[in-house]
Amino acid sequence: MSGRGWLIVFEGIDGTGKSTQCKEMEVYLNKIGIPVSRFREPTDGVWGQKIRKILTVGRGDVTREEELSWFIEDRREDVENNITPSLSANKVVLLDRYYYSTAAYQGALGLDPDSILRENENFAPVPDRAYIFTAPPEECLARIESSRGSHSSFEKLEYLKQVQKIFDSFQGTNIKRIKSSGAIEDIHTQLCEDVHQLIES
Ligand code: TYD
Repeated sequence: MSGRGWLIVFEGIDGTGKSTQCKEMEVYLNKIGIPVSRFREPTDGVWGQKIRKILTVGRGDVTREEELSWFIEDRREDVENNITPSLSANKVVLLDRYYYSTAAYQGALGLDPDSILRENENFAPVPDRAYIFTAPPEECLARIESSRGSHSSFEKLEYLKQVQKIFDSFQGTNIKRIKSSGAIEDIHTQLCEDVHQLIES
């Protein structure tokens, strides 16, 4: 029988440390011999490249609806090329950002978060676990600015506060909120315990 694998996504506003935790989880699962794949969205595909361009140079005359459609197209490709094949191979799939980010970030631009979630769930598998990393947006912004020396248009404080508010509103038994103000190792340990429970249940 072909497997179903596990889809575990890492979500939250910029600067919460989710990418670090996602990478550490990959290292850990590899070390203990559990087959794992790690991906990130936006991807490095054609849609992802278009998105990253507006992230660095600004949206210009690209409308928020158009931008939303790029995120969706990028995700369709990711699901088809990366996520579904890895799940079918019975792997643990770790994903740095997924459709909760679209609902929160594009929702914070004024689009409807619920309909964004629904549109995504029509084609994208629902994650077995979604870790939503939370930290005060002020702290996150300070972290981003000190590590990069600058910030993009996506990283303005008021916007991030709104994004955080939408992340806070998501409900579901698959969602776990992770306070990201603790030590990296402590959060990693907490996540490892949860992942073991998930994949051994
Ligand atoms: P991020 O993972 O922070 O990339 P980087 O590794 O370059 O820091 O993602 C880039 C930005 O894209 C981030 O600010 C959130 C935004 N984003 C959306 O607005 N909608 C989405 O659906 C996704 C996946 C990301």
